[in-house]
Amino acid sequence: MPLSFMKTKKIVGLDIGSFGLKLIELKPVKKGKETRYELIAMGYEPVPYQSIVEGSIMDSTAVADAIQHVFLESKTKSSSISFGVSGSSVIVKRIDVQRLNPNEMHEHILWEARPHIPFTPEEVNIDYEMIETTDTPPDKVGVILAAVKKEKLNDYLNILTISNKSAQIVDLDSFAILNSVMTNYETYRERTIVIINIGASITSVVIARGGYPVFVRDIAFGGNQFTDHIQKELNLKYEKAESAKKGRQVEGVSPAAVKPVIDLIFNDLRTEIKKTFEFYRSNTSEGRIDNILLSGGTANLESVSDYFAQDFDIPIEIVNPFNEIEINPKKFDLDFIKDMAPVFNVAVGLALRAVGDSK
Ligand SMILES: Nc1ncnc2c1ncn2[C@@H]1O[C@H](COP(=O)(O)OP(=O)(O)OP(=O)(O)O)[C@@H](O)[C@H]1O
Ligand SMILES: [Mg+2]
Repeated sequence: MPLSFMKTKKIVGLDIGSFGLKLIELKPVKKGKETRYELIAMGYEPVPYQSIVEGSIMDSTAVADAIQHVFLESKTKSSSISFGVSGSSVIVKRIDVQRLNPNEMHEHILWEARPHIPFTPEEVNIDYEMIETTDTPPDKVGVILAAVKKEKLNDYLNILTISNKSAQIVDLDSFAILNSVMTNYETYRERTIVIINIGASITSVVIARGGYPVFVRDIAFGGNQFTDHIQKELNLKYEKAESAKKGRQVEGVSPAAVKPVIDLIFNDLRTEIKKTFEFYRSNTSEGRIDNILLSGGTANLESVSDYFAQDFDIPIEIVNPFNEIEINPKKFDLDFIKDMAPVFNVAVGLALRAVGDSK
C-alpha cells in the first residue's frame, strides 16, 4: 500500500487528434460496490492545419505548443499521459490460439501472431489480451492482437518529451472509444454494437460483442474530405468551407449548394462502412448487430444519423462520453460539454484507462 506522502501519480487522457487535442482527467469515486467517475479537468486546443496528417506528425513545434496550451487551459496538475494511436500504422486482429500451459502462452501467442502482422517483429510493438468468449472452442483461447509501428510510436513519444510530458500508457483510439462506451452505457455491455468514431482524417470502426472488440478497422476518411470537397466545389478558402460544413452562415454561400457536396461525400463514407460490415459478417458465424453508436467531431454533422439510417435498419445513437461521469456545474461549462461531447469520446476512454478501469 502506498504511504500517504507517496501519492499515486495522476494520469490524464490526451487525445492527439489532427484537428484538435482533447484532454480529460477523471477521478474514481467509490459508491458502495460501484465505482463512479468524476471529471477533474478538461481541455480542448485546435491543432494548426496540417501539423498532423493522417496520424503522422508533420510540424513538431506546432503540436508541442498545442500540447503545452491544452495542459495550461485544463489546469490539470498532472504531466503524465495516457495517449492513443490510430490509422494505418496500427493493426488489430482477433485470433484463436491453442490453449497451453499459462507459462507457455506468451511465446506461443507471439509466434501465432506473426503471420497476422504485415511487418517484421523489429518494426512493431506487439501487445495482446486473452479473452474468454462463448464463441471460442474449449481447447482454444481468443486473443486480441494489437501492433503499432515503432516509428510512429517514437514520433509521439518525442513530441511528448519536447512538451515536458511523460507517456505512461499507450492505447489504441479504437480500444479507448470502446472503453468509454462500456463505462457510460451499461445496456451495451451484453450486446453486439458498432462504434464509428469519425474524426477529421481517420474513422475508427469497432465491432464489439459482450464488451470485447471482435473487429476493428481504421479508415483514412473523415471530416477533412467534406471540407476539401466544399472548398473545391464552391471555390472557398479552408476556413469558410469549414464553417459552411458546420451549417453556419457564410457570405455568398447558400446552404442549398453545400448539401449536395455533403451528400456525395457521405455516400463514400457509407460505402466504406458497408464494406466493413460485409467483411465482418462474412468472417463470423453471428453477423447480427444490435446498435450503431457514432462519435468524433464529424458525428456533429447535421443529419448524420439520417444518413446512416438509409442503409442500416439498426438503432443509431450519438455517444455521450459523459453519460455516467459526474460533473460539477460550478467548475465546468455544461453547454460547452454538451456541444463537444462526441468529440471527447477517445479522451474519456484514455482517461478511464489511466484510472485503472478496463471494461
Ligand atoms: N458541428 C460540426 N459539424 C460538422 N463537422 C464538425 C462539427 N464539429 C466538428 N466537426 C469536424 O470534426 C472533425 C474533428 O473531429 P475530431 O476532433 O474527432 O478529429 P481529430 O480527433 O482531431 O482528428 P483525427 O483523429 O481524424 O486525426 C473536423 O473535420 C471538424 O470539421
Ligand atoms: Mg481522433
